[in-house]
Amino acid sequence: MSTAGKAQIPFVDLKAQYQSIKAEVLPAVTKVLDDCNFILGQQVKDFEQAFARYCGVDHAVGVANGTEAIHLALRALGVGPGDEVITVTNSFIATALAIHECGARSVLVDCEADSYNIDPILVEKAITKRTKAIIPVHLYGQPANMQAIMDIAKRHRLFVVEDACQGHGAYYGDKRVGSFGDAACFSFYPGKNLGGYGDGGMVVCRDKAIADKLELLRGYGSVKKYEHKEKGYNCRLDTVQAAILLAKLPHLDDWNTRRFKAAQTYATRIADITQVKGPKVVNNALPAGRVPHVFHLYVVQVPRRQDLIQAFTQENIQCGIHYPIPIHLQEAYRDLGYKRGDFPVAEAAADRILSLPMFPELSVDQIARVTGVIADVYGRQPVATRRAG
Ligand SMILES: Cc1ncc(COP(=O)(O)O)c(C=O)c1O
Repeated sequence: MSTAGKAQIPFVDLKAQYQSIKAEVLPAVTKVLDDCNFILGQQVKDFEQAFARYCGVDHAVGVANGTEAIHLALRALGVGPGDEVITVTNSFIATALAIHECGARSVLVDCEADSYNIDPILVEKAITKRTKAIIPVHLYGQPANMQAIMDIAKRHRLFVVEDACQGHGAYYGDKRVGSFGDAACFSFYPGKNLGGYGDGGMVVCRDKAIADKLELLRGYGSVKKYEHKEKGYNCRLDTVQAAILLAKLPHLDDWNTRRFKAAQTYATRIADITQVKGPKVVNNALPAGRVPHVFHLYVVQVPRRQDLIQAFTQENIQCGIHYPIPIHLQEAYRDLGYKRGDFPVAEAAADRILSLPMFPELSVDQIARVTGVIADVYGRQPVATRRAG
């Protein structure tokens, strides 16, 4: 069937957002070009300070992308060959790649069924003499169980590096993600809740010594031009990206609130489609304005997923799967020795999850169209009938 005439509902509408802030972004970019201050210009410093303050920590170091943020954070904490780092199997591959990049071994564990986040009970069971760090991932924009993770880390004297690449601005209790671990890592990939117009990343931390080490590592290991204290990297946040991100940061809380409201609208409109399991906000007792799940992705679980994907395609609606193959079943990680069946919660979810369109500008009409297609595929069951049954 043709999609002709049906307006596309994109998965993420970067154009809509750009139009709404063009007047702020363009002068910021022009200033960098006029000043020709391309490498570690003033805007990088300004954005680092603004983002550190936003996260509720003292230090931030801008780097080239989120993967390198995790890699350099682990290096700055002294993680290296022979060490094990525990993380969750249902993350984006970059979490494991960063561990591998510093010579350590990824020890994977399963997720919790409701939050899709790392299961703290399994983390504790996976600890060995070689364990050096834990990387909880705030997957889809919902904070991991940081209280349990920090308790475990304290008891076993382990570092915690938050992978906050999907969690910009989310609150856990009265603090934002990024302020719990020894370091926390963000990606500013264009589709993120705070995204640049190219690659970018950031490590935030409370300890100045770690921040100093990160600055050294991102800049060829040099303290002074042409004097190299360490074997570092060329891994800096670009000044143009920093200027764009600085212009976008004041909008982030509003965008996150709009994502949260869109998620509530989705939840209402799929409530009577009993075959569809919506996302669960596990930590929602927060004062108004503090968003406990920033819905980087709105992920549902469905049976017969391919039927729904096909129906969306016919209606010109984009969707995605995050992620179809857990890390332990990726060919690239065959060497870790895991097999199907090792992490049943993540494996079962991988076969059923589907990410629906989600962005701050998503309208109620667009959500109605998306959920209308879902209802056509699975049918609605009146709530009263279900209760009676
Ligand atoms: C959970 C997670 N970790 C790490 C990354 C890596 O970030 P980047 O793509 O900026 O390297 C991403 C981003 O895609 C991510 O979603």
